[in-house]
Amino acid sequence: MTHAIDGLAGELRGQFPLLSRKLGDDPLVFLDNASTTPKPRAVIDAVVAYYERSTANVHRGVHTLGEEASQLYDDARREIASLIGATPGEIVLVRGTTEAINFVANAMKLGDEDEVVFPASEHHANWIPWRIHGKPVPMPIDDDGVPRWESLDGLITSKTKLVSIGHVSNVTGAIAPVEEVVRIAHAKGVPVLLDAAQSISHLPIDVAKLGVDFLAASSHKAFGPSGVGILYGKKDFLSKCPLYQVGGGMVSLNEDIGVGGFTPRDVPFKFEAGTPAIEATIGFGEAVRWMRRVGMARIREHDVAMSRYLIDGLRAIDGVRVLAADLPLERRIALATFVVDAPAMTQENVARALCDMFGVCVSAGFHCTHVLHARAKLSGTVRASPHVFNTTAEIDRLLEGVREIAG
Ligand code: ALA
Repeated sequence: MTHAIDGLAGELRGQFPLLSRKLGDDPLVFLDNASTTPKPRAVIDAVVAYYERSTANVHRGVHTLGEEASQLYDDARREIASLIGATPGEIVLVRGTTEAINFVANAMKLGDEDEVVFPASEHHANWIPWRIHGKPVPMPIDDDGVPRWESLDGLITSKTKLVSIGHVSNVTGAIAPVEEVVRIAHAKGVPVLLDAAQSISHLPIDVAKLGVDFLAASSHKAFGPSGVGILYGKKDFLSKCPLYQVGGGMVSLNEDIGVGGFTPRDVPFKFEAGTPAIEATIGFGEAVRWMRRVGMARIREHDVAMSRYLIDGLRAIDGVRVLAADLPLERRIALATFVVDAPAMTQENVARALCDMFGVCVSAGFHCTHVLHARAKLSGTVRASPHVFNTTAEIDRLLEGVREIAG
């Protein structure tokens, strides 16, 4: 088991400049990948190469640099699309998962009585849009924040317009039963949106196999730069969506007043007004190439072995409660959210001490899931989220720190 973890991690670690950093005298142990991932050298180089050799706007400049930039940008969209089994025309480039979900929420023009069903455990990005657009119908969750999927069928009514689910919970690491959710929702004529922010770099994804209608994801949690993400939508849906933002880049003709109106470009460009995040998108494309070179199946193999090592290690420590610790390995990714019973310390204090005393970076607080924490009666949690470059020795360092703090 440790071979599956350390074999792959050892092969890849040297490609991440960030990982050679020290915090004081301690080597950096980066276990905050659910927040954002470090970037491999290939991604950094792709961004720098655009700056150093091909800086130009895209789909505009009739010169060599403009052509190069456009080629790199278009190649990136193709690469990202193929990662999830989509075509480039089904990918709208947006700022990230949050913008992608808001795009769908806007486009559906939901009224006050139009219901959206989603697990109460969802990240704010898949919670708050349904307070603004339509009527939120949060699905019950258990005491550890895992959705009670068996309640889904009963929650879908004639008023339901959308079922919107996180593929992987950013708090429990639980993997949603997507195909089953799609089967239930589609049987009632309701589309399904998949928030893949936490899954896109951990699980192989095929939108056709999953059957989802929309998918939202971000580059920065998948080894790419911040500031870009995707909305996947079927062409027939996207072509019916109202215009989102308007301006340059999305228009094929703007006629003078008294002569005519304006004609937008085709999907997906009609939704991409303004100069896009060119270098971030090129970096995202390179991150996808990097993940595919490693192999999504090998990433998953590392993840499964790491899940067991991490969860078993944490739950063996007295005074530590791990959320959803009993979830089977095939239904989770390597992510552990836990509470440390340390007198006079908040969970934020615990995370700070892990960093200051052990060089271990983790998240603490509510992880953008206030409702999950309120329902689970938790005033904060600590979250360790390893990825494919993390080793068992690094998990041992986390466990040493937690053990000392809990003791
Ligand atoms: N959405 C990110 C997280 O859960 C920031 O940490």
